[in-house]
Amino acid sequence: MDIVLSGIRSTGKLHLGNYFGALRNFIRMQDENRCYFFIADLHSLTTHPDPKSLHENVKNVLIDYLAAGLDPEKSVIYVQSDVKEVIELYLYLNMHAYLGELAKTVSFKEKARKQPKNVNAGLFTYPTLMAADILVHRADKVPVGKDQEQHLEMTRRFARRFNNLYGLEYFKEPVAYNFGEELVKIPGLDGSGKMGKSEGNAIYLSDTPKEIEKKVKRALTDSGPTEFNSEKPDYIENLFTLLRVVSAPEVVEHYENQWNRCEIRYGDLKKQLAEDIIKVTSPIRERVIELSGNEPYLRKVAKEGAEKARESAAATLADVREIMGFKSF
Ligand code: TRP
Repeated sequence: MDIVLSGIRSTGKLHLGNYFGALRNFIRMQDENRCYFFIADLHSLTTHPDPKSLHENVKNVLIDYLAAGLDPEKSVIYVQSDVKEVIELYLYLNMHAYLGELAKTVSFKEKARKQPKNVNAGLFTYPTLMAADILVHRADKVPVGKDQEQHLEMTRRFARRFNNLYGLEYFKEPVAYNFGEELVKIPGLDGSGKMGKSEGNAIYLSDTPKEIEKKVKRALTDSGPTEFNSEKPDYIENLFTLLRVVSAPEVVEHYENQWNRCEIRYGDLKKQLAEDIIKVTSPIRERVIELSGNEPYLRKVAKEGAEKARESAAATLADVREIMGFKSF
């Protein structure tokens, strides 16, 4: 049985990008694998959340995880900061992570550009913390969106480096994995490349149908193509990308044909898109409402998840300390 592991940074409620880029794959992998799914609250510290929203965000993600179908009976669901072993492994891995390679990471360069006043060391070592998350359970497969591929690549490199340095095959090299489909990147509705909270263009799993309709209606469009079979501008391609993930193939084909014949009516397309998004999110939203009022259950899930995750992580750290040469007197 493969060990599957993944996490989502807890910067707020989860949106369609999280769902189609990651969460949906987590859910599908639960039956066939030993799964670890966590809430990456340590990673969220790079943007200095205030203490109150730190916990709120973790809680929201936990609720969204459960509402979307992660099952604590099948998978180990935990909060990253509950597993101190991750932090210890992060420190060890940082000793073998180099300035040059960390500085080259696409996500780092992007963040440094976006938040030039807060280019902190945590941001810089984001890939080593992520590697620690993965290697601490010696995972085989990591279901993530396309934007995380490079981080996975670095995790493999760190694993190899550790093995070479200490002359043994201890860590496995994990692969990015998507259940049956290509890795997808869910775009925003404002013409930008990626859906995200900080981009302010996200549709949340817990949005009401009204909110979803409003957001889709506002999506950037234009007066339509003037030539048959022309290429779509990015902001239109984005609408089609979303349509492809939520709608039936016939629906996508219908609008593709309309586009190609310069007959496209964006109003119709948006109505259909909103409807199909609501179909996906409505059952999740109902469970979000249910779970939000059930603190004892959330507490139980988090506690049991932390216990199981720590058991696995502690075993790895005991090995790692021995391999590295730590000995107690
Ligand atoms: N970096 C991931 C994101 O931004 C979250 C994450 C943290 C993660 N650690 C991980 C994903 C380990 C997979 C495995 O979404």
